[in-house]
Amino acid sequence: SGATVIDHPLVQHKLTHMRRKTTPTQDFRRLLREISLLLCYEVTRDLKMTSQTIETPVAEMDAPVLAGKKLCFASILRAGNGLLEGMLELIPSARVAHIGLYRDPETLEAVEYYFKAPQELDERLVIVVDPMLATANSAISAVERLKKRGAKNMVFVCLLAAPEGVKRFNEEHPDVPIYTASIDEKLNEKGYIIPGLGDAGDRMYG
Ligand code: PRP
Repeated sequence: SGATVIDHPLVQHKLTHMRRKTTPTQDFRRLLREISLLLCYEVTRDLKMTSQTIETPVAEMDAPVLAGKKLCFASILRAGNGLLEGMLELIPSARVAHIGLYRDPETLEAVEYYFKAPQELDERLVIVVDPMLATANSAISAVERLKKRGAKNMVFVCLLAAPEGVKRFNEEHPDVPIYTASIDEKLNEKGYIIPGLGDAGDRMYG
């Protein structure tokens, strides 16, 4: 349990730029896309492999390829799409689930407004993406929803996590590992991650 912090220097450097309040929208989006490639590289490190016989221009060989069903990304809207886009560049054949959730500003409960997922989730690795894990209400309900649709093998990837969110998510879904670029100091009374980077959805889309 806990969370795996991806402390690669490029990830950390880019994250610092994203946190700055002076970073404009276009830079924020570009940095998020770049970080998503690096996070994707790390979380797919242990994908199962098989081999295929291929012909190079000079010889035949058994070469490694990914095994099993195409994996599935599950994006928690809106901000999840910022991570999704970059990851799809690395894994263009992946399937995609979209989960529309917003946080009720009063209760901070996650309210679902959209859910669409591909078939055969039970046979795929499902990589759930959302830049922020704050109270974890959104991530917990997204994972619950995916489990109801059959998903069995999931990981959750975010940019920033609050320690409170990591703890709650671990309690609710001990079978789903968390990958994050940072575990920040705390949540404030409004459910914002401190020091954080503000609201990722707002910084991407306004
Ligand atoms: C933000 C963020 C996460 C969620 C995290 O989304 O992108 O989805 O809050 O908070 P939680 O862990 O306390 O649930 P928001 O509700 O602002 O929606 P948006 O992405 O559409 O802006």
